[in-house]
Amino acid sequence: MKEKELIDQAIAASKMAYAPYSKFYVGAALQLENGEIIMGCNVENASYGLSNCAERTALFTAIASGHNKFTKLAVYVDREAFTAPCGACRQVIHELAPGIEILLINNRREIKRTSDQELLPLSFGSADLENND
Ligand code: THU
Repeated sequence: MKEKELIDQAIAASKMAYAPYSKFYVGAALQLENGEIIMGCNVENASYGLSNCAERTALFTAIASGHNKFTKLAVYVDREAFTAPCGACRQVIHELAPGIEILLINNRREIKRTSDQELLPLSFGSADLENND
């Protein structure tokens, strides 16, 4: 699987974004272990707090489609600066895709590579709920 395709899909996903309030159009492309790619975009709401980020859209779509093994997540915004996942998405990535490689893509198609561990150090997760008596 070529990263070029993953990046193309993240860019295509950003064009599906429903972001009439922020006008900040985010696309995500999630690569499954089997090579398939699942896309996600941000979906906003007039009740702003209900908005869902592109990363979580992609992860939730994948889970709802029966997939739970992920290798890479690309996040694209049509800006020169790299856009990193928000705090809520970092927690969800940590839960559903620990160890995934995260590629932040800018509008020059440059790649900044990061990871769940780097984005969410000293994290809280499912392991913390074990033996909590
Ligand atoms: N957003 C994402 O979809 N992903 C990110 O990584 C950062 C923020 C969305 C949420 C909201 O719809 C808009 O971008 C502005 O915050």
